[in-house]
Amino acid sequence: MEIVSLAQRQLDQATALSQAENWPHRLQDWQMLMTLSQGRAALRDGVVIGTALRTDYGPDVSLLNMIIVQRSERGQRIGYKLMSSLMDEVSGRELRLVATKAGIPLYEKLGFESEGEIFQCQGEIASVGLPDEEINPAKPDDTHAIIELDSRFLAADRSALVQWLAKHARLAVARGAQGEILGYAALRRFGKGHVIGPIQANSQRQAQNLVCYLAASLAEQFVRIDMDDGLGLMPWLGDLGLKCVDTVTRMRKNPQTNPRPAFGLCSQALG
Ligand SMILES: CC(C)(COP(=O)(O)OP(=O)(O)OC[C@H]1O[C@@H](n2cnc3c(N)ncnc32)[C@H](O)[C@@H]1OP(=O)(O)O)[C@@H](O)C(=O)NCCC(=O)NCCS
Repeated sequence: MEIVSLAQRQLDQATALSQAENWPHRLQDWQMLMTLSQGRAALRDGVVIGTALRTDYGPDVSLLNMIIVQRSERGQRIGYKLMSSLMDEVSGRELRLVATKAGIPLYEKLGFESEGEIFQCQGEIASVGLPDEEINPAKPDDTHAIIELDSRFLAADRSALVQWLAKHARLAVARGAQGEILGYAALRRFGKGHVIGPIQANSQRQAQNLVCYLAASLAEQFVRIDMDDGLGLMPWLGDLGLKCVDTVTRMRKNPQTNPRPAFGLCSQALG
């Protein structure tokens, strides 16, 4: 077994690994992650049997994601080696991840601690009402202000991700009286349908209005929102047809920042 850098040409094998776990990622979703991340592959006889990615958010924070070892290869420390290979390059940084139940024992061994639950809500969305405050599409010159707002909420700089979203997703913003951006949300294709996220808002009502605006054209289509525990949006999402189908756990190692809980994650991989 050898650990190498994950190459673009291996992403179809990576997609097959994640699909074997019933994860919804399409090849395009892996490609998006790879444009923003460093990747590792575990190879046996040239075949990808494990993956791990690290997404750096500015100089101080990194996320680890897409950690998968093929079922028949588990229990041989391959997951540990994939993670260590990515972590060794960024020692001293705050590391974040979102863990499945299968991943928690490995991450605890590596020094991560649990911080709270994330609810995965999804389904065919009903028709939504109109927002009761003005929500607008983001303009190209809003990108800088969205990056600034996102960094404040997340306590990490993910400008590369927001720039990707500005190009490939629909971005909606809530503005204050002076036109300043108070909250934003993104809608993009992902997995079985669409994801709404990130959703960065100052109140539950603002988050609902951003969702209503973006979901207006999606009635009866599959939509997913991953959200931090304790924000109160879940009953409302349930009424819209987005039921909680799974919970996963936020974990951190070497915490140095104070991020706010999110009404919508960009994805479990990207926080
Ligand atoms: C999580 C996963 C990547 C672990 O891969 P792995 O190669 O089997 O893990 P390792 O062999 O490197 O385990 C490292 C350590 O964690 C411990 N560990 C790993 N999984 C464990 C489990 N399910 N229960 C108890 N301990 C576990 C092992 O005991 C091992 O410690 P040891 O070597 O001192 O005994 C693998 O189970 C997997 O792909 N699961 C499905 C996909 C998934 O959910 N990934 C996590 C996404 S957040």
